[in-house]
Amino acid sequence: MKKVLLSGIQPTGRPHIGNYFGAMKQWVDLQTSQPDTEKFFMIADYHALNFIQNNEELKQNILDVVLDYLAIGLDPKQSAIFKQSDVSAHTELAWIFDTITTMPYLMRAHAFKDAEVKNKEIGVGTFNYPMLMSADILLYDTTVVPVGQDQKQHIEYARDTAEKFNRIFGETFVLPEALIMKEVAVVPGTDGQKMSKSYGNTIPLFATDEEIRKAVMSIVTDSSGSIPKNVYEIHKLFRSTTELDVLYKEKSGKYKDLKDALIADISAFIKPLRERREEFAKNKDAVLAILKAGGEKAKAKAQAKIEVVREKIGVRLY
Ligand code: AMP
Ligand code: TRP
Repeated sequence: MKKVLLSGIQPTGRPHIGNYFGAMKQWVDLQTSQPDTEKFFMIADYHALNFIQNNEELKQNILDVVLDYLAIGLDPKQSAIFKQSDVSAHTELAWIFDTITTMPYLMRAHAFKDAEVKNKEIGVGTFNYPMLMSADILLYDTTVVPVGQDQKQHIEYARDTAEKFNRIFGETFVLPEALIMKEVAVVPGTDGQKMSKSYGNTIPLFATDEEIRKAVMSIVTDSSGSIPKNVYEIHKLFRSTTELDVLYKEKSGKYKDLKDALIADISAFIKPLRERREEFAKNKDAVLAILKAGGEKAKAKAQAKIEVVREKIGVRLY
């Protein structure tokens, strides 16, 4: 069976190093290591509409994610880079999935439960989120979805939904597998919790040197041991533990020196990425052309699949 890889992020703001090491870096690595796999990298703009209902902001965020994708090394020659809203089959299939899905089943979603705990009035789009994501994945006969740990349940929704559809209408969808890197499944933030925009504990992926310094200085250290655990855990992303163990032993108890070393390592890593991004940003038209072409490529595949789905459910009469 042909291998198909699909993943994406929502254009909801600047990516951080948790997004990068948890998911995006694997995309670039897989692009090289799996030349024969068909690859799709999506910008989930219709998912983001649940959070961003502001024309200018959404537009800017979409463009920002394309730049992020190109800057980290996704290559439009090898992978289709596209936005969800360019392929209307996604929302169509999400609707079809809604009709075979029950509310209690969707109420078990972590994201829904989290929203419920916060006692927010939960939007229908947020509630349906897993069905749109299932459609994103299943439309392309995706076999592998490289993501961070927090998306695992969403991939299970996609598998369950594929199985349910296949049971009702006959074999149609491939069951996708999540690909989650163990060591970076959950990248910690400056406070030791999972790095997340909503916790305000991030280090932005394309941060300036000043932003890196500020973020590292804010890393919470406790004075109980000689190794500042939160500094070390982030440092591990940039340097081997063998090297770090020597450094952390040598600088035992000297938190300021260790933070300075971390700042230097992060800055050296981010600088070329940031510069690549600045280069791409100079040519907005070329970037939009890449996005548009990726949309055409994705659409060609998705359209063929949605025709099969229409046929299966019984709405295709001519
Ligand atoms: P999000 O920012 O929630 O749209 O996440 C985009 C991608 O980054 C998803 O695949 C997440 O699983 C992954 N991700 C987000 N935060 C982290 C983190 N702290 N550690 C590892 N992966 C993450
Ligand atoms: N839910 C994912 C996130 O928040 C983004 C996403 C939407 C996605 N559709 C997808 C990821 C399909 C992988 C495959 O990160």
